[in-house]
Order: sequence, then structure tokens, then C-alpha cells
Amino acid sequence: MNKKIKHGVLLAGGDGTRLRPFTYYTSKHLLPVHNKPMIFYPLMNLILLGVENVCLIINPKHESTWNQLLSNLKLPININLVRQEKPEGIPEAFPLCEKLINYSDHYLALGDNILIGSGILDKFKNLGEINPKHSIILGYPVKNPQEFGVAELNKNGEVTSIVEKPLNTKSNLAVVGLYKFTSEVFEFFKRITKSDRGEFEIVDILKLYLEKKKLSILNINNATDYWLDTGNIDSIISATNFLSKLSESKVVDIANIEKLFVNK
Ligand code: DAU
Repeated sequence: MNKKIKHGVLLAGGDGTRLRPFTYYTSKHLLPVHNKPMIFYPLMNLILLGVENVCLIINPKHESTWNQLLSNLKLPININLVRQEKPEGIPEAFPLCEKLINYSDHYLALGDNILIGSGILDKFKNLGEINPKHSIILGYPVKNPQEFGVAELNKNGEVTSIVEKPLNTKSNLAVVGLYKFTSEVFEFFKRITKSDRGEFEIVDILKLYLEKKKLSILNINNATDYWLDTGNIDSIISATNFLSKLSESKVVDIANIEKLFVNK
């Protein structure tokens, strides 16, 4: 029988240097994207995936602002704020959260990634359930692969290599910031070291899954599903324009966790 994944890890730490001066006084992830704080989008996806507990990694200097927001929301899940003293890479989330999530399988979402579409989360969840020992990643074709983790596939659609921000690559398939990890990841973390840019790299974790033939990829249909990275001001503005166009019809109401759960 498949185990239901109850835990999510949501990364909203970092210094947000590309978003100064805003990030002198708040977290990048609390900036507005269309009509919601950025973090609502990945948080809603974790809720839709069915998690019951979220470890939210934050920069301690913004802790009181996070508490102000969270104390006004009534959510159907528990959120634990986890302080990351220095942004030393996405995989640092594993040792920071391992006890809180009881060394279990979990979803990991990046706080500056917006993923919306028709049934993509169900497909992602199903693939994880069919392959309980695998890490699951999502691929999306982009014009600027050098800015992302990039996966190369063989003709059967299996991942053959994965590289972080490659200068040259034949593949345009970026790895999206939503992953399923198995409990094996806590051991894998102990085997990786920091890269030349002084950070632990998430692709080094994925490479270990690949070596063990335990990495599966789901290609997102870019005709029906959309992935937006909101790591800088131009991408925040583009995402805002895109989402506001979508909601002009008044029937689209993405990431409205307030409407569903707010207590006042
Ligand atoms: O957007 C998808 C890409 O995200 C992937 O394709 C890449 O493989 C992955 O490394 C990542 O690349 P970025 O350069 O975009 O990562 P960034 O440093 O912007 O961090 C992503 C999120 O994680 C952001 O919301 C801040 C948070 N973060 C990051 C680091 C390095 C933390 O909470 N703590 C950290 O130490």
C-alpha cells in the first residue's frame, strides 16, 4: 500500500540580494505577485498535494514578519518556521528539517516558483506513488536553460544527466522547483559537498538518485501548464501581468488560501 506523504518543506530563506531594496525590510517571498504574497503559490501547491505539515525555511531577520502573516491565517495544515542562519544552499533544508519531518518522504518546494495548470499536481503525486523509492522531478522547456538546473533525457524519456546552470547544453529542459524526495535523501545529504559558489547544490542530490536509478522525471505540458520563476523584479512583473490577464475572466482564482481559510 502507498504511504501518503504528510510533510512538505518550503524554502523561503536567502538574502534576496537581487530584490534589494525591498529585501532590506521583508522577505522576497512576501512580495506581491499579482494579488497574493509570492509564498501563497507554492504553499497552495503543497496543500493541494495533501501535506499536513510544512517546514518553512526562513531568513531569521524576517521572522517577525512571517509570524505576523501566519498568525492571521487559519490554515488546514501546521507550519513550523525553521531558521536558516546563512543561505548555504537548498539541500541545507534536509538537516534543518529532518527531525521535524521524522526522516520521512516529503515534497520540497522553492518559495519563488509558481506552478499552475491542469492536473499537473495530481500527475506528479501519482508518479511518486507508482515509484515510491524514486525522487520525482518536473521538467519544463525554457529559452534560458543556463539559468536553471537542466536535465538531459534519452529517447525513452529517462534522465541521463543533470547539471546546474550549464554554460553549454543540448537540452532546454529546466528542472522546476518542486520535488518529491524519499527518506534516503537525509543520507545522501551527508555525501555531498559545497560547490565552487560555496553552496550545497540540489542537483548533487539528484545525481545520487540518478546513479542509483531512482530518479524519475515528469515533463510538464507547456501548452496547458505554466511554470513561472519569480526570482527577480522582471520575472515578478511578468508573472503579475500573466496572472492578472488570466484572472480578467473573474473565474480564475489561483492560490487563494485566504478565501478558503482566513479567520477574519
Ligand atoms: O527555479 C528552479 C531552480 O531553482 C532549479 O532549476 C535549480 O536547479 C535550483 O538550484 C534553483 O536555482 P536558483 O538559482 O533559482 O535558486 P535560488 O538560489 O534562487 O533559490 C531558490 C529558492 O530557495 C529561493 O526561494 C530562496 C530559497 N533558498 C535558497 C538558498 C540558496 C533558501 O531558502 N536557502 C538557501 O540557502
